Amino acid sequence: MPSLSASAPGKCILFGEHAVVYGRPAIAIPVNQVQAKAMLLAQPGPTHSGVFIDAPDIGLAAPLHQLSSAHPFSRLFSALQDHLKIDHFPAFHLRVSSSIPMAAGLGSGAAISIAMLRAVAEFLGQPLPPAVLSELAYEAEKAYHGTPSGIDNAVIAYAKPVFFVRGQPLQFLRIAAPFTLVIAHSGIQSSTAEVVAAVHSTHEKDRAACEALFDQIAALADQARTVLQNGKIAQLGPLMTENHQILQRLDVSLPELDRLTSTALAAGALGAKLSGAGRGGNILALVPPEQAESVSAALLAQGAVRTIITHLTPTEAG
Ligand code: PMV
Repeated sequence: MPSLSASAPGKCILFGEHAVVYGRPAIAIPVNQVQAKAMLLAQPGPTHSGVFIDAPDIGLAAPLHQLSSAHPFSRLFSALQDHLKIDHFPAFHLRVSSSIPMAAGLGSGAAISIAMLRAVAEFLGQPLPPAVLSELAYEAEKAYHGTPSGIDNAVIAYAKPVFFVRGQPLQFLRIAAPFTLVIAHSGIQSSTAEVVAAVHSTHEKDRAACEALFDQIAALADQARTVLQNGKIAQLGPLMTENHQILQRLDVSLPELDRLTSTALAAGALGAKLSGAGRGGNILALVPPEQAESVSAALLAQGAVRTIITHLTPTEAG
């Protein structure tokens, strides 16, 4: 039986989460150390007709047609079907797995969508360009969390650092010098939809104060873009720490996340912040490469359940 597999990386947001939902810029990078994978097995014969999805990480093993129309996988396949203008999919079995921690701000939902789309499109002999992958994955993102900015599907589909402004053409970010991040998981799962809704209700109550915080975050994202383009990496640290402080004021941090960022700074990180929706998930610490292991050890000693050390290499914009 023919089979093929496809993958997609995780991601982290360096600057601008939450503010990006309100039209401010954000910077995100792919995290290649963690990946979502989709393995497709063609099913001949009439006994197994249709699409069968097996996703053991979320305890799902079911034919696609049995999922509710609101399920992210249903939304994804329906968007793909519309795009390809086909009546139905041929029979296949799709097994989905991921090393990206779920509900942790590392883009596991978008990565799973993109790995699935890649596998199915390739099987159908119609490989999709990143712009289409991103657009289709956005449909599933809406099922995961209501009003996504679209940054996750964009950075993961292109697997390149991006400077993202909702509703504007995607800009790729030139990174002039390498840098190293330690990503540390607090072990607390958090629902992006809930945290985005909480920020929304704060915004409803005190629009002026929230808008001012979003503007401060936007200014940091703009400065960070210049710093990355100039390769003055050490200057990135204080900007990250300042972004974290604004996220604290937006009430999306937690004592556990604050403890991890302080631990990273005390252990020699140049800057640290939560990443993603917050109220759980991961923090990022910018570290001198030779201190990555010791900062990681300090974070694990202070309650992080897992760390990932990721090295960004210089890129060209384009
Ligand atoms: O999916 P997460 O947890 O990385 O959060 C995405 C970042 C937010 O700005 C909070 C939401 C969004 O849609 O951009």
